Amino acid sequence: MSESYNRMLLRRRFCKRVVLLLTAFAVSFYASVLLFGGLKGPQVMRLTDLHRCPACYGVTVCPELYSNQITLDSSHWNMFNAKNIYYGYTKSNRRVVLKKLAHNWELKEFDDNLCNNWRLKLDCKSIQLLNMTNIDEKLLKIVEFNLTWPDTEPRKGLVMCPYAYSLYDFIQSFLNNKREGYKSELINIWTMLSINPEPIILQVIPKSKGWPVPPFGGVCGRLEVVGHEGEPLSALLDVAWHRKLKYAQNILDAAMDFTFKHDRFRFYLMDWSLDNIVANEKDEITFVDLEDLVVLDKHISPKKDLPDWYKRYSREVMGPGFTFSIENMCRHHLSDHNLWAACYVLAGDESPLLYPIPKDVNSTRPHFDRLLSTCLNGEDRFLAVSKLQQVIEEMLSDQKIVGFGAVR
Ligand SMILES: Nc1ncnc2c1ncn2[C@@H]1O[C@H](COP(=O)(O)OP(=O)(O)OP(=O)(O)O)[C@@H](O)[C@H]1O
Ligand SMILES: [Mg+2]
Repeated sequence: MSESYNRMLLRRRFCKRVVLLLTAFAVSFYASVLLFGGLKGPQVMRLTDLHRCPACYGVTVCPELYSNQITLDSSHWNMFNAKNIYYGYTKSNRRVVLKKLAHNWELKEFDDNLCNNWRLKLDCKSIQLLNMTNIDEKLLKIVEFNLTWPDTEPRKGLVMCPYAYSLYDFIQSFLNNKREGYKSELINIWTMLSINPEPIILQVIPKSKGWPVPPFGGVCGRLEVVGHEGEPLSALLDVAWHRKLKYAQNILDAAMDFTFKHDRFRFYLMDWSLDNIVANEKDEITFVDLEDLVVLDKHISPKKDLPDWYKRYSREVMGPGFTFSIENMCRHHLSDHNLWAACYVLAGDESPLLYPIPKDVNSTRPHFDRLLSTCLNGEDRFLAVSKLQQVIEEMLSDQKIVGFGAVR
């Protein structure tokens, strides 16, 4: 009696589990169909959300997406893609990354505040933005807001400093100054400054001019298309040490370039995680996340509020980990922020790329480790980095380090 009762209980439990599993499957099945319009993964045009605010977004890469010149790689598709990153191919088989410009909740916040932001009626139509006259001012407002935001609070987006009005010259370099369409370009820029300035940055410092950033394919609505430039360094920590040394060389070169290469602006990158630097099979590196950065105009005339403008700013000890003061960076014509950050990636407290240094290297070149420490904690990082560049160059030409049977 009790045995058959137990069996009945077991059977019931089993049935319950099967029903639960089937329900979960059915829910995710319908969610997938509802959200993305099919089981093969999202349809690319749905990802753009262009209908939400056609006036707000760029459309440069829409024709390629509409005509299937760029297709999504469904093998990489993941329904719980919190990062909003998708992978795809062009017709000529070039791998591309399709990036939503922000997380879904940020985009929703942007949509919800759109009318209010432009002081339009709550049920405004986004097309009304094209009638606005104060767009220039609005652009400046966003950047000013980021500039005055206290360091201690989470901040988002572009900081243009020391004076926000440099923004106009900054965007001129890629704006299409033709009369027609000019206003919509400005609204696009306002949108990008509001949610993610990366498409602007990728056009001001393009890969075609030697910057270590992905080639920019264009935007369509909320989707940005860039070239796929390799795997993140965080996934390459097991490669041979000499390859890490090559990455290190490129990272230091990039830090110098972002600081010195542009004849008008410096670019201080704020997010130096190993996830945001990718490397290709030739060990060339690319900075793929340019959402959070400080752009400094070197050519301003300092007013009374900038008494120390012509002095260099060297990062002070601000506590453990990756901390910095945007305020101080912006008050000086030159800061060693990028150099410190690069050395922090190579030798800092959080998964340092070059450590442990192989024993053979340490015994033949004990000064290498010392130089890395000097770069992290010393007085003159510009000097330390240029010495590091020389030592690394010399090491990369040493067959004992890079040749057959190289140190690991
Ligand atoms: N151009 C690219 N080439 C290769 N991989 C890329 C590229 N762009 C992005 N990725 C991959 O996608 C990941 C996320 O990209 P990205 O850092 O831009 O997104 P994110 O949403 O800003 O992430 P987070 O805010 O967490 O840093 C990167 O860590 C990298 O692995
Ligand atoms: Mg990132």
